[in-house]
Amino acid sequence: MPGLFITFEGPDGSGKSTQVELLAQALAGRNPLVVREPGGTELGERIRELLLHRPEGMSAEAEMYLFMAARAELLETRIKPALAEGRVVIDDRYHDSTLAYQGGGRGVAAAWPAHFPKPDLTILLALPAQEGIGRHGRSGKSLDRLDAESLEFHEAVAKTYDRLAEREPERFLRLDATADPAEIHREVMRRVGQLL
Ligand code: TMP
Repeated sequence: MPGLFITFEGPDGSGKSTQVELLAQALAGRNPLVVREPGGTELGERIRELLLHRPEGMSAEAEMYLFMAARAELLETRIKPALAEGRVVIDDRYHDSTLAYQGGGRGVAAAWPAHFPKPDLTILLALPAQEGIGRHGRSGKSLDRLDAESLEFHEAVAKTYDRLAEREPERFLRLDATADPAEIHREVMRRVGQLL
């Protein structure tokens, strides 16, 4: 039995991690695999450190391939095996993040590699860029290299996410991230219930 691959997308401050946790708790009886990107493997966590905290930065294209390298390792060692066992996989960010941040934000020619499986469902927690930056500031969380980018960058990311959701309406569930978290979770569960 093939598993179910669910990804969450959206800007920082969109409440993505809260929704990942709520869904993981709701599906706890099914023993879901819950991962976040970049990361989820030893190699991926080392790449994460480079990507998010390297003071010297890096070229936009190198950045894109490092996100994808971390993803390739996670896919091969954890996500694909879990899906093959019929498990639910919940991934906090996946390749749509690369299309939005490196493609939309940085302007790199980003595409979807044929061997990266498409999620069965992608939940986009949509939030205007200005609001995301404000929420992040109020949260007291330290800024990583991408969070610290300009408003213009974050606006391009949000616009690209919207375009991706419009292009694949069957895969995406786009929800207003400013809504009540409990209401967002109910919407997520409604859609996940249809897929299970
Ligand atoms: P996080 O804050 O959700 O853990 O994500 C880490 C940061 O990495 C966030 O600013 C978005 C960024 N990112 C990309 O730019 N491209 C990607 O492919 C991924 C997975 C994350």
